Amino acid sequence: MSNEAIEESLARIAAWGDPTARVYEALYAADPALAALFGNDESGAVRGHMLYEALEVARDLAGARAYGAHFLAAESVNHEHLGVPRAAFAAFYDAIIAAFADILGPAWTPDFAAAWARVREEARAIANARLIPGI
Ligand code: HEM
Repeated sequence: MSNEAIEESLARIAAWGDPTARVYEALYAADPALAALFGNDESGAVRGHMLYEALEVARDLAGARAYGAHFLAAESVNHEHLGVPRAAFAAFYDAIIAAFADILGPAWTPDFAAAWARVREEARAIANARLIPGI
């Protein structure tokens, strides 16, 4: 099963072009300290891959719900060891939402906004949950 609003918004963004630069601009605008974490990513490949994974997680959380929650839970632990605060996961989805809304303008519908807000809220809750005591 897939979520129409998530799929449709992603199709519209894909028709516009590659949103990667806009998403990271929005992320750094919200928290400039996060930019330093990508200091070694000279080619941008890590950031591109990371955004791809975050979008696939969004599709999964809103659709099949096969792996996204567990993947996010694991990545919130892995990323903590890179110095990424767990709160940054919600900030990343906020940046995706802000960039997409800005790119699509009036074509960013209330349905899109509501579907992405649900994904963002679930990702926030998963990243902040400490599922295994002490980790
Ligand atoms: C939905 C949320 C996220 C997902 C699914 C995710 C996933 C990933 C993946 C798959 C990689 C490896 C990419 C590669 O090496 O090709 C990665 C790397 C990285 N992520 Fe994330 N990430 C998320 C959120 C964040 C956030 C919010 C930050 C901080 C702003 C962050 C910082 C980093 C950094 C610094 C690396 C590079 C690690 C290294 O030096 O190898 N991630 N992420």
